[in-house]
Amino acid sequence: MIKFDYIHHACFTIGNKDTKIIFDPFLDGNPGGITPADVKVSYILVSHAHADHLGSAVEIALQNNATIISTAEVAGLVAEKGAQAHAMHIGGTYDFPFGKVRVTPAFHGSGVPGGHACGFIVHFFGKTIYFAGDTSLFSDMKLLGEIENIDYAILPIGDNYTMGPDDAKRAAAMLKAKTVIPIHYNTWPVIAQDPEKFKQAVEAEKIASVIVVKPGKSIEL
Ligand code: NI
Ligand code: MN
Repeated sequence: MIKFDYIHHACFTIGNKDTKIIFDPFLDGNPGGITPADVKVSYILVSHAHADHLGSAVEIALQNNATIISTAEVAGLVAEKGAQAHAMHIGGTYDFPFGKVRVTPAFHGSGVPGGHACGFIVHFFGKTIYFAGDTSLFSDMKLLGEIENIDYAILPIGDNYTMGPDDAKRAAAMLKAKTVIPIHYNTWPVIAQDPEKFKQAVEAEKIASVIVVKPGKSIEL
């Protein structure tokens, strides 16, 4: 059984009885009141170094003796603060004990000089999960959908900083994802969106099924 816990914003965990991974661990203001001390994980995936994504990564890594997986520039940044890091970069894959990780492009700032934002495709005990990170829509998502058989696409729909709902719908179609989970919306008024409207639009065109997970809630993948 694989559990998906949505903490809030772009922060979530996936885990089974052996391994738990947290993505973009921005905990400030999360409705469950989760603090870095509450997070028990082996790996931390970080898409870029903006504060709403890097978040408490270093603190969580140090408390758990966990490894931060990110692009080389972000890995360098966290390593300077004493965290264990595995540097990767766009287009690269690596077989971790839990499964294969592919680093994907994301059209967005990296938050660190010379870097580039990214997303991840994670093979986790039989499920293929694409976390787009912060990104615009880009046509190579079609290629990702051809290379990988994506079960779950976790896509930003907030607009303003990333793609909005209409572009995320196109992304879902190009990725050929079976299921889409929207994230990165309603954290602040500037990214206010109605996820149920997004779900209706995607499902009306039979592009994918959409699961709206409320912050602080969990589902089984
Ligand atoms: Ni960002
Ligand atoms: Mn962001």
